[in-house]
Amino acid sequence: MHNLKYPLILVCLLTFTACGGGGGSGNKTSAPSSSAVSSSSSSVESSSSSEESSSSTSSSSASVDNLSLKSLVDFPVGVAVSAGNEANSLLLDNTNGTAQRVIAEQHFDQLTAGNIMKMSYLHPGIDTFNFTQADALLEYANNHDMTIHAHTLIWHSDYQVPNWMKNFAGDKAAWSAMLQTHVQTIAAHFSGRVPSWDVVNEAFEDNGSYRNSLFYQKMNKDYIEEAFANARAADATADLYYNDYNLSQGGAKLNAVLAMADDFQTRNIPISGIGFQMHVNIDWPRISDIKASFAAVVARGLKVKITELDIPINNPYDGSYNFPNNYVSELTPTHAQRQKVRYCEIAKAYIDTVPANLRGGFSVWGIWDGDTWLNAALFNNNHVDWPLLFDINFQPKPALTGVANALAGQPCS
Ligand code: G3I
Repeated sequence: MHNLKYPLILVCLLTFTACGGGGGSGNKTSAPSSSAVSSSSSSVESSSSSEESSSSTSSSSASVDNLSLKSLVDFPVGVAVSAGNEANSLLLDNTNGTAQRVIAEQHFDQLTAGNIMKMSYLHPGIDTFNFTQADALLEYANNHDMTIHAHTLIWHSDYQVPNWMKNFAGDKAAWSAMLQTHVQTIAAHFSGRVPSWDVVNEAFEDNGSYRNSLFYQKMNKDYIEEAFANARAADATADLYYNDYNLSQGGAKLNAVLAMADDFQTRNIPISGIGFQMHVNIDWPRISDIKASFAAVVARGLKVKITELDIPINNPYDGSYNFPNNYVSELTPTHAQRQKVRYCEIAKAYIDTVPANLRGGFSVWGIWDGDTWLNAALFNNNHVDWPLLFDINFQPKPALTGVANALAGQPCS
């Protein structure tokens, strides 16, 4: 059973020592190099089938040195990053930061701030907005032919709702005005500089009811549509996403989100697409359910964006952190291979189901296994997992090749 209280996974890949720090190809029109991918695929497979441990995945690096995920497709290929004053900021002038930048510049053309564009960072006081850290990340991205998918204007999570907002007094009209200022000020600051926003994050419970968040308590569900209208008022062109986890399996939560989107479209409330966080498991949801969920959004003419993909080996959501029955304490080649196929199948499901004009992008939630929320105290566990595309030494994992194979139209194996 998957009792997901919070979804998530991610991966990173590619050897940084051989990448040379060159910006990689920012040319989205370059043709996929199927031969390069298939050769890397076979190389990684041979590594996976050995009895070597995960640390040996660096042996596959030679075959993927010339790989660039972003060059394989013409939709954004993104990654969440730590930035600003976070301990693992990719902008740090140290080996850690350098390794991250080499990977980011080689493989990705879109970044999402894992934290520093959330409410508490951008709006720390009722009359205080602070864009310093976000602007530095945006400048870095722009200097390396990357865009920023902005995350997020409204999110209930306690950690990132600023304290002044938690204590804000006032009736519904006062809350409406306060949130209008919040959304419009931030969206206006980035208007023309970011292509997309997660406007509202995680407003529904898994059973399809509205989450009884601070915002819901103060404004009922009206805060959601007001946020979208305010974002559009301040930014005429950015794609505006509703973003949530546990959508890709279908069911009550997805249905509730779709009903909201239908209602928005009927009433001309601006919405561009649905963000599927996809903090999934290695064996759940089924690919058929993922495809059906994407298709339901496509049927409405809305964009589909995979916003936060990560795929842990062990199931972190059922309270036991076991896979399937016992905790896997080492990323063995067998598990790395399974993760590779899983990454590939999800990316392939996206391409197979979402037409080109509705592909908002494919993003993983972190660069490397050394910086993932799944290993963090946030998750209240002492377990280690390996949900991303690059290992703790910034070396590419088979999962990287899995994504590349899907993006290049190669089989998943
Ligand atoms: O800012 C403090 C810092 O001062 C302190 O030194 C450090 C020590 O632990 O903690 C820092 O804050 C942490 C913050 O990340 C920045 O690193 C918070 O405790 C921690 O709760 C926060 O976790 C983030 C979480 O969202 C809550 O905002 C995760 O990194 C981030 O990956 C996670 O991302 C969310 C998406 O936004 C929405 N979808 C789910 C996804 C995973 O939970």
